[in-house]
Amino acid sequence: MPVISAPYAFNEGDLYVDLESICGHPLYLKCEAFNFAGSIKLKAANEMVENAERDGILKADSVLVESSSGNLGVALSMIAASKGYRFLCVTDSRCNLSTRLLMEALGSEVHIVADQDENGGFLGTRIEYVRSLCASDDRYVWLSQYTNAGNWTAHYRTTAPEIARRFPELDVLFVGAGTTGTLMGCARYFREWHRPVRIVAVDAAGSVAFGGEPGRRMIPGLGMSMRPPLLDESFVDEVIRVEEPDTIRMCHRMARHGFLFGGSTGTVVSGATDWLSRHDAGDLTAVAIAPDLGERYLDTIYQTNWLQDLYGDQVLATEDGNPLPVTGDDDEVLDVRDTAPSKPLPREPKSASRAPARRRSST
Ligand SMILES: Cc1ncc(COP(=O)(O)O)c(C=O)c1O
Repeated sequence: MPVISAPYAFNEGDLYVDLESICGHPLYLKCEAFNFAGSIKLKAANEMVENAERDGILKADSVLVESSSGNLGVALSMIAASKGYRFLCVTDSRCNLSTRLLMEALGSEVHIVADQDENGGFLGTRIEYVRSLCASDDRYVWLSQYTNAGNWTAHYRTTAPEIARRFPELDVLFVGAGTTGTLMGCARYFREWHRPVRIVAVDAAGSVAFGGEPGRRMIPGLGMSMRPPLLDESFVDEVIRVEEPDTIRMCHRMARHGFLFGGSTGTVVSGATDWLSRHDAGDLTAVAIAPDLGERYLDTIYQTNWLQDLYGDQVLATEDGNPLPVTGDDDEVLDVRDTAPSKPLPREPKSASRAPARRRSST
């Protein structure tokens, strides 16, 4: 019976969903959301904060500051609240409302940037904003998940060995790529393992993490609008890119079986399913990593109007032309016969941040 006195002290590292009946291929999904931060980012946050404490970088009057699309921000909010640090999260207008409210409920300050960088993302703007904060006051401490080795060593020490222990015959591992902390930690671990494991990175279409043209991305978690500084492609065997409508369809397919996962899980499972159907996968032992659950996405991925506005009515049409039911305002079922043009503009956050310094949205 685990009994804890600090919220970061518990993480379920040993839960897998067998997705064969949902995906049609043998695929085990490692669930990383069962901790008090609700996501895999607890591991990176813990490691980076502990390293900074050990190195004397964090002091009693320090203010932690970090750029995050949400989940790292929640994890740092929780750790900061528990350890008595102040935390300021710099996020962007793609951050889910519930994620922002969570951070604020934990006592953090949230600043939202809304000016897109030259690659159509917000990362460049967020980093520039963090840099200017740090230049303004030396009490700010930026752990920088994009460059901090603790972001990948956390997974080298925990996530990868957890998988290795349960799947001694592992053949292929599918890992979503954001900062690439999870990817690099697992890839480095399995490079040293007793048998070769194919490391497949799953990226969001429109991300420039592995090169390619930038494009619109509305689902937070995966993808980058710059090359991830932690990424060393020599450890990655293959990269697959998943379009957002495929992510959404996979999220809804899993939800119809009672598994409500977050967007990046939909991306990874969609990419993995496609990969397995293109390979002779019958005898392969395949694992994918699920970074979070779906509750943070109820007003986006699982909301009818949001889906229709961004992707059109067809997004949930099944291959046989029948609509998938989606959760929404009136439990309505999308009618695939009525097609509406998709609108390219993202929705604004529903309420203003209580943060004092806030940049205006250009969208
Ligand atoms: C939901 C979700 N999925 C995937 C990732 C990507 O993980 P990583 O930054 O280790 O590449 C993140 C990172 O914030 C995330 O929040």
